[in-house]
Amino acid sequence: MAGRAEGRCVLVCVTGCIAAYKACELVRLLQKQGARVKVLMTEHATQFVGPLTFRALTHEPVAVGLFDDPSDPIHHVSLAQEADCVVVAPATANVIAKMAHGIADDLMSTTLLATTSPIVVAPAMNVHMWQAAATQENVATLRERGVRIVGPGTGYLACGDVAEGRLTDLDAIAEAVYDALATTSELAGERVVVTAGGTHEPIDPVRYVGNRSSGKMGVALAEAARAMGAQVTLVMGPATVPAPAGVTVAPVETAAQMLDATRAAFTDATMLVCAAAVADYTPSHPADHKLKKGIEELDSIALTRTTDILAELSAAKGSRTVIGFAAETGNPVGYAQDKLARKGCDAIVANDVSRTESGFGSNTNQAWWVTPERVEELPLMAKTDLAREILVRAHRLNK
Ligand code: CTP
Repeated sequence: MAGRAEGRCVLVCVTGCIAAYKACELVRLLQKQGARVKVLMTEHATQFVGPLTFRALTHEPVAVGLFDDPSDPIHHVSLAQEADCVVVAPATANVIAKMAHGIADDLMSTTLLATTSPIVVAPAMNVHMWQAAATQENVATLRERGVRIVGPGTGYLACGDVAEGRLTDLDAIAEAVYDALATTSELAGERVVVTAGGTHEPIDPVRYVGNRSSGKMGVALAEAARAMGAQVTLVMGPATVPAPAGVTVAPVETAAQMLDATRAAFTDATMLVCAAAVADYTPSHPADHKLKKGIEELDSIALTRTTDILAELSAAKGSRTVIGFAAETGNPVGYAQDKLARKGCDAIVANDVSRTESGFGSNTNQAWWVTPERVEELPLMAKTDLAREILVRAHRLNK
């Protein structure tokens, strides 16, 4: 059976930390799954483990200094381009800080800045260094940029403390590498905008009209599009799930804000997927102060129709691809065909939300892919898998 990293090149970056010796075992694990492993060390790392150890393990030259290889004057660029995935293990507070701030003052930091491949970082350091505000902010910055952070674990540290800061389990690090390698380039060059979540339409400063959208389908779409190599902007209303790493997030509350943010993001996008449950109506006269319960009965709240984002942007889409959703309770295909014609998008993903396995908040969905030419029934699957199926089909349209 082929290994999970068969034929792929993984660059293991080892920094100056007592856990550096564990990188030897990581190299072995990755090799067992078929990876070609190259090792890059900082000068400090060579104080803990000799480069010869890695050279013997990998049968490859071990890179340390910026000017070590006279035959390749831009060694950092060739290393960065050759690797399908770069893993920094163990990663000190120092290398994490350099990555967060774009500092490039040695071979490792220049390579990390120059790579466009996915990066996995496995921190290992003293608990106080890990918990320091600077490190936490740097790690958050890297996460936002899509760097996969694994660990640290909790246990016995070199300083004698039993605390957080240990290099995490090597299997977990290897797993993150395989996951990063699974990232494909099917959507390379696509700039995808996804709307997700619900909207909150204010009645007064503390109350709103809202809906029970979990945001799971939109988040799954954004995550899948990123994993397929697209640049992704997620316009996200209130939801119960967090936005994924590695995408640009435009947080919004109301339908009007969602329209503005989506319109702006769509300007230089190639694809729009409207998965948000946008309120169809918004209170016509939201109060600018908290309403007091002075009267016994409140007969009505006047509501006004919101702009249909999907229809509005479909009208201006040109050759770009626009996909909508139809959440129905009965006759999903019929309603979807009607919506497709009314809204002018390229395809509608229809599902029946009265079924428990396809309803709001569920992790699975059974849907129909409806275009003007055909209707395709898709099997019940995880929302994450459905997201891929939708994006593959959307990418093929207009081609
Ligand atoms: N949509 C949108 N902007 C709105 C309303 C809906 O972009 N203001 C998008 C949703 O993101 C989804 C599709 O339109 O892609 C759903 O259509 P919609 O008309 O909201 O469905 P229903 O409200 O269920 O329609 P109807 O009341 O006509 O059955």
